[in-house]
Amino acid sequence: MRIDIITALPDLLKSPFETSILKKSIDLKLIDLHIHNLRDFTKDNYKTIDDNQFGGGAGMVMMIEPIKKCIDSLKKERIYDEVIYMTPDGEMLSQKISNRLSLKGNLIILCGHYKGVDQRVRDSLITKEISIGNYVLSGGELPAAVLCDSIIRLIPGVLGNPESLKEESHSISSDDLILVEYPNYTKPANWRGIDVPEVLLSGNHGQIAKWRLEQAERRTNQLNQE
Ligand code: ADE
Repeated sequence: MRIDIITALPDLLKSPFETSILKKSIDLKLIDLHIHNLRDFTKDNYKTIDDNQFGGGAGMVMMIEPIKKCIDSLKKERIYDEVIYMTPDGEMLSQKISNRLSLKGNLIILCGHYKGVDQRVRDSLITKEISIGNYVLSGGELPAAVLCDSIIRLIPGVLGNPESLKEESHSISSDDLILVEYPNYTKPANWRGIDVPEVLLSGNHGQIAKWRLEQAERRTNQLNQE
């Protein structure tokens, strides 16, 4: 999969891809990641990418021309499945969206900043708008890193043990319910007087699976009641 990220702050995006799973996905050539500095697509000496909004009001708006130039230069080379804009008023990121995006070949992700982008960018260049939560961050870079992590870890070969994908939160399904994960324990079996649930030490895989499903359902119900 190829991912092109367009940003005004490329440095902010570098470190998530230099460690752990995301780095591994690049090293293994499962992900072909390109980070583009929007200022490279300006023509004035100040490398201007934003301006005041028409109609007045505080905050700068990102201009369409540098974004259009950057996206056009990418589209000239290959076909993209989606051009995604990270924005707090987009569709809420979910496991379902990440699953679907992990099957794509080429993605562009645009990071907004300041008061976001000129509406004409959204109307004419963007195919999907994604929010990572109902809160406003100072830019789309961290949301883009979150989105990439949630997609990339699903690509076959990225995780050491793909079995772990099956049983984690939002992936186990019973009766069409999306369940959060059951509780996990590791050594020691008794920590300062607190025991691991006995069933997990029983070696009875049927009982363990049953207990885990019950726990996942109980946690999911609790979350849904909050
Ligand atoms: N940009 C700023 N806040 C955001 C959010 N919550 N999700 C996606 N992009 C954003």
